[in-house]
Amino acid sequence: MAQGAGRARFHRLRVTAVDRLTDDSVALTFAVPSELREAYRFTPGQHLALRRTADGTTEGAEIRRTYSICSPAPAGTAPDTLRVGVRMVDGGAFSTYAHKEIGVGDEVEVMTPAGRFVLDPAPGHYAAVVGGSGITPVLSIAATLLAREPEARFCLIRSDRTTASTMFLEEVADLKDRYPDRFQLVTVLSREEQQAGLASGRLDQERLSALLPALLPVERVSGWFLCGPYGLVQSAERTLRDLGVRRDRVHEEIFHVDDAQGAARPGSAAGAPAHATVTAQLDGRAGSWPVQDGESLLDTVLRNRPDAPYACKGGVCGTCRAFLVAGSVRMDRNFALEPEETEAGYVLACQSHPTTEKVELDFDR
Ligand code: FES
Repeated sequence: MAQGAGRARFHRLRVTAVDRLTDDSVALTFAVPSELREAYRFTPGQHLALRRTADGTTEGAEIRRTYSICSPAPAGTAPDTLRVGVRMVDGGAFSTYAHKEIGVGDEVEVMTPAGRFVLDPAPGHYAAVVGGSGITPVLSIAATLLAREPEARFCLIRSDRTTASTMFLEEVADLKDRYPDRFQLVTVLSREEQQAGLASGRLDQERLSALLPALLPVERVSGWFLCGPYGLVQSAERTLRDLGVRRDRVHEEIFHVDDAQGAARPGSAAGAPAHATVTAQLDGRAGSWPVQDGESLLDTVLRNRPDAPYACKGGVCGTCRAFLVAGSVRMDRNFALEPEETEAGYVLACQSHPTTEKVELDFDR
């Protein structure tokens, strides 16, 4: 099963390869020493938070970003290497560092794997709709599934701007060569003239509604994996809903959200108590602290427990997931938790503000 965020730990791992994938993306490979292998055992689809602690970073003493593991999960054993894909973001503090500074032999602080956008390999027919760097976790999912389940099938629909900007072209082509009968690939390029076998244009809801039923038996697909920019994931999710796909078969991971799309609500909402206290359980130890005006519960906890898990602080990665034991909260935005998780009582601490005087969170559940 996917590892819980409550057991997340950083360790320094050595970089053993830096592979340029496109003009604006690289893959970093880390060696995992034998004593840490169990801690880095992962379920395909999970991600790693990378941390840079340095004076002079634009965000203060440290920056963290999450990057999905692209390598397949080895069967029955823990991994001795981990590979992640890093796409350069304009002005991105960590991605610029990864592209310009990280080299073979360097050590990087890497958090143990987290995330629930996962597939435990099982027989069946699976499908993914991905955009841009959204291919990264899906590459691990598809490669692991096809290697481990001789009857499983995988259909990948990917969209990108151009062939030159497409990440993991070789790795995906390799899946096609290895599993010609069980791996189906459709590539849609938005900014390139149509070539043989490639469709061009945008992968929007109208197009997906026509494409998906033509490609595969939609009602018999055991799991759908939607990953990429917010707009694409939303279009694919609506398309699947219109096609009658059950919600519990759809898994989503959003890689990029504009603030306008996030529709974040202001921090000081009506209904917030004048004084609130958060009690948090983390790694078996609990503490209670007053929440300062407007701050998120994660920030309150971090002031007192710097080991609290987080990565994006933007409601996207899910690393700060905690169980709400008592009280109630308001979340600014949530692009990480599935409806079943919020119904079960989980919240994103980085997006939560108290709406009762006492709030209790459990990061260990
Ligand atoms: S830290 Fe990423 S969702 Fe809270």
